[in-house]
Amino acid sequence: MGLLDGKKGLILNIANGRSIATHIADNCVKQGAKCGFGFLPMDNIEKSQRRVKKAMEEFGFPNEWLHPCDVGSDESMDRFFAAAKEQFGTIDFLVHCLAFANRDYLKTESGVFASTPREVFKQALDISAYSLVALTRGALPLMPEGGSIIALTYLGSEKVVPGYNVMGVAKAALESTARYLAYDLGGRKIRVNTISAGPLRTLSAMAVGGIDEMFDHVAKKAPLKRNIDGDEVGKTAVYLLSDLSSGVTGENIYVDSGFNTVGI
Ligand SMILES: NC(=O)c1ccc[n+]([C@@H]2O[C@H](COP(=O)([O-])OP(=O)(O)OC[C@H]3O[C@@H](n4cnc5c(N)ncnc54)[C@H](O)[C@@H]3O)[C@@H](O)[C@H]2O)c1
Repeated sequence: MGLLDGKKGLILNIANGRSIATHIADNCVKQGAKCGFGFLPMDNIEKSQRRVKKAMEEFGFPNEWLHPCDVGSDESMDRFFAAAKEQFGTIDFLVHCLAFANRDYLKTESGVFASTPREVFKQALDISAYSLVALTRGALPLMPEGGSIIALTYLGSEKVVPGYNVMGVAKAALESTARYLAYDLGGRKIRVNTISAGPLRTLSAMAVGGIDEMFDHVAKKAPLKRNIDGDEVGKTAVYLLSDLSSGVTGENIYVDSGFNTVGI
């Protein structure tokens, strides 16, 4: 018996085998869910799709549904949900696992955050936070019986993590967005929660200045004295997407070896 037997859900977006979305997908599929995935159509859409397909093959779910989705485009999201409706009819969960900020402004040097231009700020907030509102709205017609929505965040939303800069601001907006959505949609039996993951070596994380120091710091200071792995995020995602968490909404759950609890 899988914890997600009989459930269907959408997970956005997979970039490669290291993506947190891939680990969440792996755990959801293992627990019996039928999943559909999004990927960002880059300049060369076939190449982006091949990379994602390779990850899906490596993890043992090569035949799940996959469709392009750029959250910077309303038309792209509309096409994604129209195709998802045709494929799945209804869904039980949605995973928001994507973010973007211009890496030139994710550096640890003094003065970089203060130099963030308006366009860079707007894009980071649009792709990384507003997208949760837009994707939730797109998913609503597919969730007539309720469902569970999760989004991935990081401690840099609450505390200064050098180098995280405008992404920290975007994650603060994302977490607040999740709480407002939880309140707004609770009457429709839709739960919305966030997972605050510790640092993981993914494509996006490598764009953040000072990331190696973050890994060292967690390994030294966190109660568990080690960094987390992607599978641990996937397992917590299963809890939040399954009926085990039926009374939980508007929450943020840390999967960070306990690092957030330590003061010095
Ligand atoms: N890796 C970490 O250390 C860490 C820690 C905490 C939270 N997170 C969060 O986890 C989520 C997944 O990131 P990841 O670390 O797996 O990296 P990743 O690079 O594998 O995934 C980021 C995803 O965002 C997608 N994306 C970027 N711009 C997009 C757009 N315009 N439209 C649609 N998709 C777009 C990328 O295509 C990619 O699939 C992000 O929200 C990230 O902030 C990561």
